[in-house]
Amino acid sequence: MSKNIILIGSEGLIGSELVRELKSAHKVIRADISAPKNNNDAPFYEVDIASEQSVESLIKNVVRDFSKIDCVINCAYPRTKTYGKSYDKVPLNDFNENVNLHLGGYFNILKNFMLFFKNQGHGNIISFSSIYGVIPPRFEIYSGTEMTSPVEYAAVKSGIIHLTKYFAKIARGTSIRVNSISPGGVEDGQNPSFIKRYSELTRTHKMLAPNNLAGPIRFLVSDEASSIHGQNIIVDDGFTL
Ligand SMILES: NC(=O)c1ccc[n+]([C@@H]2O[C@H](COP(=O)([O-])OP(=O)(O)OC[C@H]3O[C@@H](n4cnc5c(N)ncnc54)[C@H](O)[C@@H]3O)[C@@H](O)[C@H]2O)c1
Repeated sequence: MSKNIILIGSEGLIGSELVRELKSAHKVIRADISAPKNNNDAPFYEVDIASEQSVESLIKNVVRDFSKIDCVINCAYPRTKTYGKSYDKVPLNDFNENVNLHLGGYFNILKNFMLFFKNQGHGNIISFSSIYGVIPPRFEIYSGTEMTSPVEYAAVKSGIIHLTKYFAKIARGTSIRVNSISPGGVEDGQNPSFIKRYSELTRTHKMLAPNNLAGPIRFLVSDEASSIHGQNIIVDDGFTL
């Protein structure tokens, strides 16, 4: 059955692919802090997940234009300009700011959509965590590159998995489902030695492509997943094993 889905982070690597994959079967409403650049035939709303007022306006405007919202998928990735350093180069205020924007932003979506969905009588919230919310980083695959898995990311993504369970319990007795998805690394022009080391740890010896996430998301959106609630679905081709 066709659903009205708000996809937050719609202009990013994963979000833009999900819009493409979902829009043939559903009404997909794009939302992002960045100007629209992809999938221009799907409606677009500007939103900052780290602002309560902005999220309230998004819900109000989408309901005004489309009458109901069946599902929200949050795959935004807020971060500061200084994000991405080794833990010993991260000043406390940078750590706090990234946690505020990212974990705070995801809480803001969970809270405001939970309130709206309770009022509406049904809903479905899907938040993007990561394999690095499930296991600590495999630091060895970054050696010899400028890359790392930031310490803020560990705090944020593990927090999103636990917040998912927290809100899932709040949703007991309602027609609202709350789940998260934890992708493995998506190939996106990273350092070749990192890609090689990462790929050795997966079943197919590849990183993910954005469209590997479409099937699991389609399932979580659908009524086939009506008994999937409070879960974190790991989609990583075996990387965390
Ligand atoms: N790419 C990967 O390898 C990977 C792996 C695991 C998990 N994830 C998670 O998947 C999600 C999407 O990742 P991606 O690689 O597509 O990221 P991306 O940076 O390509 O896209 C993120 C999008 O979020 C938007 N955004 C940033 N701040 C925002 C805010 N405050 N409000 C609204 N929108 C905002 C950006 O404009 C961008 O369009 C993230 O949560 C990320 O942590 C990604």
